[in-house]
Parts: sequence; structure tokens; C-alpha cells
Amino acid sequence: MSKLVRGFRDIFEPQSKNFTELENCARGVFSLYGFGELRLPTVELKELFIKSTGETTDIVQKEMYAFEDAGHRQLAIRPEGTPGVVRAYLENNFTQNAPVQKFYYIGNMFRAERPQAGRYREFEQIGAEYIGNSAPAADAEVILMLKDIVAKFGAKNYKVKINSLGCDKCRPLYRQELIDFLSAEKDTLCENCQTRLEKNPLRVLDCKIDGSRFAGRVPTMKLCPECQAHFDEVQALLKGKIDFEVDPMLVRGLDYYSRTVFEFQAGDASQNAIAAGGRYDTLVKHMGGPATPAIGWAMGAERVIMARGETVPAKQKSVYVVSLDKTCNETAFNLMQTLRHAGIRTEGGLFDKNVKGQMKQSDRCGASYALILGEDELAKQAVTLKDLTTGEQKQIPFEALTDEVKKLV
Ligand code: HAM
Repeated sequence: MSKLVRGFRDIFEPQSKNFTELENCARGVFSLYGFGELRLPTVELKELFIKSTGETTDIVQKEMYAFEDAGHRQLAIRPEGTPGVVRAYLENNFTQNAPVQKFYYIGNMFRAERPQAGRYREFEQIGAEYIGNSAPAADAEVILMLKDIVAKFGAKNYKVKINSLGCDKCRPLYRQELIDFLSAEKDTLCENCQTRLEKNPLRVLDCKIDGSRFAGRVPTMKLCPECQAHFDEVQALLKGKIDFEVDPMLVRGLDYYSRTVFEFQAGDASQNAIAAGGRYDTLVKHMGGPATPAIGWAMGAERVIMARGETVPAKQKSVYVVSLDKTCNETAFNLMQTLRHAGIRTEGGLFDKNVKGQMKQSDRCGASYALILGEDELAKQAVTLKDLTTGEQKQIPFEALTDEVKKLV
């Protein structure tokens, strides 16, 4: 028997309904904020992610599902959505015609991470990218939009952390300061951080092994006056609308961020970010376009659902159609279609089974009523309606059936 691949899942009802509920909830909020859906391909050129997500990131170094196709192209199954959005934005000439764009996407992402609770190899992201607005208002807007979705969905116990990573002017100074500070403790760093120290020292703060022990004593970034003013204004716009905390240790694991970064965190585990994002003001240019500011985020659908708790939505009442004889099957089948087209949830059709088998299935489906059709009923052009809770039965003529059933379910 074939087996599921480790780190991947089948999601059945009713669990799958939590995803639909979250997606619908997000779509409603996106529409209020004027974000339009962008449906992106799952596969992109591998170099897209190397260039944008970043060569030194865990995602690109260790977690990407990359392969060569029959045409010898180096491809990757997307580990995140932002690079594809920027590629699509540039490739479709938005820069010239309509530089300010608000996109959202809903789709599965793939990362070969070590599977554990809340960390999967295929997971769903709901993401938003606001391109072309450098104002702090854009930062505040996307953060509040994220909060609106999470709140409307019903997730409660989470913290919002924000930070500023500065720009190409102030970050290099901090980078050097951090290298000097961390070099003194180089020998005590984990193997990964020893390499990160030179290439991407900010990531050491984010390290699951080393990060926490530097909290409170690591030098914090001194933003240039422009970045400080930007960050101050973002905070002023958020005040009173959302509870948040400035966390200088929040650095994010992707290369493209500048200025504002943020995370919505639930619980204490390392896989606690239910959603995360930030500005990436240099990425569009880095990808070959004109200098264009941008900010966005993505939420992990599984984690947002986990933070709220899965709910089992109430099942719509249904009827189950039973045929007692071969000669009744066609009429019974037609009846099922008529009821469905009248908006009644209808199951049935297991006509190769005897009455006992069919009734058993009606029970398994959780149907409220059985509609039984035998030779006797067919002769009278009627159906026996059986209440599966009380066992009561009555006959209803065909022409009255949809109206009668509609009153019950
Ligand atoms: P990220 O932090 O890599 O950012 O992922 C965003 C969210 O996706 C995480 O906060 C988490 O909820 C979820 N997530 C990530 N990996 C997994 C996993 N293995 N299993 C389950 N959930 C996971 C990005 O992807 C950026 N593209 C966000 C962004 C958009 N920044 C700017 N625009």
C-alpha cells in the first residue's frame, strides 16, 4: 500500500472546513482594504528564490524542493510567495502603468524542514503584498489588516512584536557592531552561527540555539534619522488600534527585509509565529526593476487555526434516499437530483446494497431523514419519509416532496 510522504498531510472534513473558514474570512477583509487576488504558479525558476529569499537563508540553503526538469531547467517548488509576487509585478509591467499594487495570495508553500507540531513540509500561506507605498501608513495598514483577519477568525492569545531593521545606510554600521560583539564569543556559538557571523550576523539573534542568550545584552540598532522617523510614525499610527511590543531581537530569517518587520506570535515554541512580514524596499530593484518600496506578510493557515482551536462546524441537515427495488432506482436517483436542485443536502444512491446496508449508510452520513422508495410507493407516486431520530414514518406524494422536506431541513 502506498504511504503518505513524511511531513505531508491529508486533511479531511471537518478539519478542512477550518481552512475554508479562514480563507473566506481573509478574502472578506482583503476586499475591504482593496487587495486583489493574485494566483501564482507553484513552480518558479530556482534562481528566483536564491536571488530574493537569499542565498544565506535556511530556506534556500537547506529547505528548498529544487529539481531539474526534462528541459534541463533548474526549478523550485515555491517555499514562499513574495518572490513570485515581485516577479509577476515586474514581468507584467506594473512598474510603468500602475506602480501601486495591493495583492493577496492563498496557496501552499513547500519547505523541507524537520517536521514537528506546527511545522510541515507543505503548508498553506495566506499572504499580502503592498507594493509602491513607502509611507508608514502602508506599514500600519498591512499590520492592522492582518489583525483584522486574525481577530475576525477568532484567534486570541497572540502577541504582536515589531522592530526596524533600518536601511542600507544604518544597517551596515550595526552589522559591524554586531560582528565585533559576537566575535568575542565566537567559540561558544553553534556551528551555523559561526558561519552566519560573517555572512549574516543579524541571523544569530534569530537562532533557536544561540539567540535567546543574547537578549538584553546585545547592542541594539541605532537607526538613521529617516528610519527612526519612519518607525516612530508606524508606531504612532498603530497606537490604540493594536497591542504591540517593540522587540530589538526580532530580525526575521529572510534576506530582503528593511525597516519595519513584525511577527504575530502565539505560545512559546520556536514555531510560534502565526504570521510574519515586513518591508522589503530594495527587493524590486534588486530583481531588476526600478527602486520601488514594498511591504507584506504571510500567515501560516495551520498555525492560525491551531491558535484559535479547531472548531467542528454544525453539519447541515440532510436527507438520504433509499431504493428498495431495482425498478425504483431510476426514480430514486432522479429524486436525489430534484432535491439537490431545490437546495436540499441529499445523499443516497447506494442502490446495489439491500435496505439494511442503505439505512446503515444513512446513519453514517448523519442524515436526519430517509426517503424510501419501493414498488408500493412508486405505484402511488409517493415516498415514505422516515424521521431517523424518532422513527416516525409518513408517505408524501412526489409533487409535495420538495416543499415538505424543505420545511424539515
Ligand atoms: P515566513 O516567516 O518564512 O515569511 O513565513 C510566514 C509564516 O508562514 C510563518 O509565520 C508561519 O506561520 C508560516 N510557516 C512558515 N514555515 C512553515 C512551516 N514549515 N509549517 C507551517 N507554517 C509555516 C514569509 O514566507 C514571507 N514571504 C512573508 C512576507 C510576505 N514578507 C513580506 N511579504
